[in-house]
Amino acid sequence: MSAWAGSGRGGAVTPTRAALRHHLERARARTEDLTTVPEDVLVAQHSPLMSPLVWDLAHIANQEDRWLVRLAGGRAAVRGDIDDLYDAFRHPRSTRTRLPLLDVETARKYAREVRDLTWDVLERSAFDDELTRRGFVFAMLAQHEQQHDETMLATHQLRQGTPLLDAPEAPRTGASPDVARVRIPAGEFEMGTSTEPWALDNERPAHAVFVPEFELDTVPVTNGRYLEFVDDGGYARPDLWSEAGWAHRVEAGLEAPQFWHRNPGSGWVRTSFGRARELHPDEPVLHVCFHEAEAFARWAGGRLPTEAEWEKAARWDPATGRSRRHPWGDEEPGPEHANLGQRHLGPAVVGAYPRGASPLGVHQLIGDVWEWTSSPFVGYPGFRAFPYREYSEVFFGGEYRVLRGGSFGTDEVACRGTFRNWDLPVRRQIFAGFRVAYGTGDV
Ligand code: AVJ
Ligand code: FE
Repeated sequence: MSAWAGSGRGGAVTPTRAALRHHLERARARTEDLTTVPEDVLVAQHSPLMSPLVWDLAHIANQEDRWLVRLAGGRAAVRGDIDDLYDAFRHPRSTRTRLPLLDVETARKYAREVRDLTWDVLERSAFDDELTRRGFVFAMLAQHEQQHDETMLATHQLRQGTPLLDAPEAPRTGASPDVARVRIPAGEFEMGTSTEPWALDNERPAHAVFVPEFELDTVPVTNGRYLEFVDDGGYARPDLWSEAGWAHRVEAGLEAPQFWHRNPGSGWVRTSFGRARELHPDEPVLHVCFHEAEAFARWAGGRLPTEAEWEKAARWDPATGRSRRHPWGDEEPGPEHANLGQRHLGPAVVGAYPRGASPLGVHQLIGDVWEWTSSPFVGYPGFRAFPYREYSEVFFGGEYRVLRGGSFGTDEVACRGTFRNWDLPVRRQIFAGFRVAYGTGDV
């Protein structure tokens, strides 16, 4: 019996074919939005950190061809000859424009052909084996496409040239932009999940974790607070940085978050999807690396939260002692709870989502900005790679740090209280900020 094959029958909602169809359709509509741009924009290398957008497009289709058409459907591949080209482990991102990639029209046609077969596989699936139980592999592919949609959004942020994306402004008014801290009492809580049907392997299994008492900022660190750190010489004080962080600060010449520019005479501006905007003091800071977050936290008299602290703040219900799916409860995220799903192309001001706060009054844990934690990316006790080692396991135990909570660019299907993201401590292209914790954290 596998670790989670039979788990979670009770309590969780049985996924329906209609819900899976809906998530797959939403993902495809977003992919189309992000790739309905001039052809030269699709094939260009906008940053050595990113793939050309046309690679993401065909990679999305190729993963669906493998997992849904071939493995779940037992059908012949639509294109078995191009698996190597779209294998993320074969070719580094910076080399992909030199590969004989599918051209834009062929990639679009491939994605449509695969999707037509997917509908048939979904219709016929009995959801009766480990891969398809409760719709898992279909939801995995919806999450995969949405993850690449967030990556493509980051590519758009990195590209130079005429602005191509537009969306309504995120909420500009907040309930309480002042920084406050809450105390989270010592005690065990249930971390991770064995029942969430579409949770990925690294979120599993549920396990008890004792978390000592600590305090946590109720809101993410804002541009206004971060500017105080910059103005106080935070980038010139090695005592605030780890050794590796300071070495990186010097070598990379970091002086402010990525995409911030000093405007002579009028303060700072930040560039967002090709448009210069005045820095909003009450928006969460964005595009900082782990090292910058760590230095700020030390300057503020605190530290980054551990991953367990973050998840306890987000899920632990003091009234029942139970861990919930989201800070606001078990309901799916709605626009009143969190800034998710690329409805806006930036974070809302802090305090803008009071209905998404946790019972202890911690705001915006889900949505707006990914939050760096101090924790390295490792497997939970009892971890089992499923359905492939290359999703999580090959990244365990390295230099990666965990980020939690999702950003304005993350879709709800790929975001929950247990969801784990990771990146290298020097990376700033993701939509990441952080919040500060206080207390020894000693166990
Ligand atoms: C979970 C965001 C780190 O983009 O590298 C996409 C997601 N895995 N295709 C990544 C992923 C395979 C992954 N992250
Ligand atoms: Fe992928």
